[in-house]
Amino acid sequence: PAPGWAIKSDVVVVGSGVAGLTTALRCAAAGAKVTVVTKAKLDDGSTRWAQGGIAAALGDGDTPQQHLDDTLVAGAGLCDEPAVRTLATEGPDAIRRLIAVGARFDTSESTGEILLTREGGHHRSRIVHAGGDATGAEVSRALVDAVRAGVPHAEGQGRIETIENALVLDLLTDAEGRTAGVTLHVMGEGQRDGVGAVHAPAVVLATGGMGQVFSATTNPAVSTGDGVALALRAGAEVSDLEFVQFHPTVLWLGPEAEGQQPLVSEAVRGEGAYLVDADGTRFMQGQHELAELAPRDIVAKGIMRRMRETGAEHMYLDARHFGAEMWASRFPTILAACRANGIDPVTEWIPVAPAAHYASGGVRTDLRGRTTVPGLYACGEVACTGVHGANRLASNSLLEGLVFAERIADDIRDNPPAAGAPVVPGPSRDPLLEHAARYETQRAMTRGAGVLRSAESLAEAAGALERIHTQAVEDLERDEKTAEPCVETWEATNLNLVARVLVAAARRREETRGCHWREDRPDRDDANWRRHLVVRLTPERT
Ligand code: SIN
Repeated sequence: PAPGWAIKSDVVVVGSGVAGLTTALRCAAAGAKVTVVTKAKLDDGSTRWAQGGIAAALGDGDTPQQHLDDTLVAGAGLCDEPAVRTLATEGPDAIRRLIAVGARFDTSESTGEILLTREGGHHRSRIVHAGGDATGAEVSRALVDAVRAGVPHAEGQGRIETIENALVLDLLTDAEGRTAGVTLHVMGEGQRDGVGAVHAPAVVLATGGMGQVFSATTNPAVSTGDGVALALRAGAEVSDLEFVQFHPTVLWLGPEAEGQQPLVSEAVRGEGAYLVDADGTRFMQGQHELAELAPRDIVAKGIMRRMRETGAEHMYLDARHFGAEMWASRFPTILAACRANGIDPVTEWIPVAPAAHYASGGVRTDLRGRTTVPGLYACGEVACTGVHGANRLASNSLLEGLVFAERIADDIRDNPPAAGAPVVPGPSRDPLLEHAARYETQRAMTRGAGVLRSAESLAEAAGALERIHTQAVEDLERDEKTAEPCVETWEATNLNLVARVLVAAARRREETRGCHWREDRPDRDDANWRRHLVVRLTPERT
């Protein structure tokens, strides 16, 4: 639909997690007028669910080089080394700046120093955390408070405007194809209700992940791949979508559990919990030198293998030896989630199984966060900066959001993008999908493109996803009508689009690497596949 209202800004930031708000604060501090649009409330989204923490070489004897080395190993040959070097080198200062913004991390009572823990794939303790296991909530609180307080700069305060309940739809471009803003659908926000536009020469996508393409995920309901879908429709390059990370230890709530599932942080293993099967055997020992603290893909595969061997639907974490006091102080969020589901980790094993957690790929960017469309940037989980390769190292995600947000804001300040008037968008030839398509898409993905994949399972998923889309196209052609535009139908449409592209990439990559596990191609094939799959859609092909 054509926008019914429009406002002007210098920078539009889409999303309000660590990546979006860090970008907004830094752009505003440099004097820009920033408009943050976010699909729900400012503090919704994935950031606030992050448990374990933020990785950075802050400990005695640790160095950015060691952090870089661990990240490259986890990334299974597909990390972009300059991007990882940037992340590891700039990470410690980015965390110090976050502390200056107001984030409070856990410190030692005796020395006052920041406490550091370990997670999978890290050879050292380098994860800062807050509230025990509520790091993301604290990061989100600090950034939201800072945005609400306004940013001091030369011309006064309050140059960040926020629009909540605003689902971004499409990129606007000028006659030369440069970014000129976004269209968005705002619900229930008074004057700015309905479909409108924010005109600006710089747009930063910070929309988070796409975990909701699967039936069970650690991601909140808002993680529906909106940024990747927008970028695809805008003709930007997208890369590495086949590398979906499945977190090894998600609380198992039964075979029918759907939607967001409670995470049991890697930090629980970092502090000494064991993975055991129903007989109490520690099956990760002997599989990797780091046993339970191997990189995430290896632990997820170890669990899946053991589930198959024993016919079980899940494995267990044993952390009874932490005792009641440590559980309450170090992992209060996880303790509460377990108890809410009838499990007491102080006296019982915790049932766990892998579930979709993180998109290692996304909208392709350079080291300044620039996508292949002039003026369009991407930051955080929606982006593919090259730091994660085929498998993200634990607790590198909040860090990536912080480090690259600062780089994007600096690039916008130093090389301000220019744009002419936005071209009025023509009517879309693509149908919106009905809300039910969300669940059909999720089931097809979980059946065919989950933690274990094969040519056959992926072909079935591709067929099912295509049928969902084709049905809507045929309905449009026959009746000239499409689903009613609303959040549910935009989200279903975005999910189906990103799922189709993801499955196409997973079919193409005929090897097993990082978190892409092909049962029919069980080996890593460096000769043919040490390369990225980059997708760019032409306007006719969505
Ligand atoms: C966790 O706490 O296990 C999640 C950390 C991450 O995804 O990096």
